[in-house]
Amino acid sequence: MKEQTQTILEARGLVVEYRTRRERVRALDDASISVAPAEVLGIVGESGSGKSTLGAALAGALPREARIESGEAHIEDHSVLHTGERELRALRRARLGFVFQDPIGTLDPTARVERQLRWALAAEHEGRASTAEIHALLEQVRLPDPTTAARAYPHQLSGGMAQRVSIAIALANRPAAVIADEPTASLDASIQAEILELLVDQARHHSTAVVLMSHDLPAVRRFCDRVAVMYGGRVVEQGPPAVLFANPAHPYTRELLASALGHEQPGQRVEPIPGQPPVLRSATQGCGFAPRCRSVLAECLTVRPELHHVGEAQTLCHLPVVASAHQEETSRG
Ligand SMILES: Nc1ncnc2c1ncn2[C@@H]1O[C@H](COP(=O)(O)OP(=O)(O)OP(=O)(O)O)[C@@H](O)[C@H]1O
Ligand SMILES: [Mg+2]
Repeated sequence: MKEQTQTILEARGLVVEYRTRRERVRALDDASISVAPAEVLGIVGESGSGKSTLGAALAGALPREARIESGEAHIEDHSVLHTGERELRALRRARLGFVFQDPIGTLDPTARVERQLRWALAAEHEGRASTAEIHALLEQVRLPDPTTAARAYPHQLSGGMAQRVSIAIALANRPAAVIADEPTASLDASIQAEILELLVDQARHHSTAVVLMSHDLPAVRRFCDRVAVMYGGRVVEQGPPAVLFANPAHPYTRELLASALGHEQPGQRVEPIPGQPPVLRSATQGCGFAPRCRSVLAECLTVRPELHHVGEAQTLCHLPVVASAHQEETSRG
């Protein structure tokens, strides 16, 4: 028997560029990440930091204009770079589910919900799925009236109902992982947490891994087992939310948390992070965050940092390394 894979999705040193007639953008600049079976991984970072590109690269679903320049991506044991398009499509269908920001736009407007759920089921099961099974899938996503929902076309559903249907579709085939790219961003604020909780509950129930890209940091803290922070196409810090949110090691994580969570303290002003996130044309020299960093050191401008462990987290910042070297020097006298 084949050994069980301990990683469902993995990116190692991925460099991805978008090349259009007008410009060339380096969206991933040596990005590494992995997600284990049944793990809920949150990916956070400012707009343009590369979250969606990383999700698409992990699924082998980058758009035509994107090119993987170097690095590796794996879906379980399959190398995304060395698997043909047809096989990749079959692999995605069998092993992955997707939930996107705009549920009504993602669903097929011409087909009833029932039919779309049948399509989502494994090919060998599709033809045999009974109406009761379809209704059961809709019940699992807590739709109050599965019979009516099954007969509905997407435009007849509210955003929240449509996203419940998308979650049912994403999980119908019992995938190994679901990639959820801002799954609640277009929904009414009052139901965002409920929908995210549903997604995570259902995924955990089936031991499905989740990769959740989100700007909603309180939700990420609440629902994820591990959080990765992206900046300029790299994962600059990752760790368990309890560690990362309480004691961020990377200055960017500190700024991001302060700007996103500041409003949790009544009366506290939300300060935007000074400066602009970069749009990269080529590999960054030194640390990508250096131009905006309040704690910048000389080496931050010239030496490209590598991920290293700081307690339970991993960070891509020179500061802890320099600080511990300094401490060692002082203790040696
Ligand atoms: N199809 C594309 N063609 C050209 N450039 C693109 C394309 N898609 C993304 N980019 C660029 O790649 C970089 C990373 O974009 P990406 O969408 O991955 O970021 P993101 O973190 O998901 O942002 P957001 O939070 O806004 O969704 C950005 O500079 C973006 O403008
Ligand atoms: Mg995105």
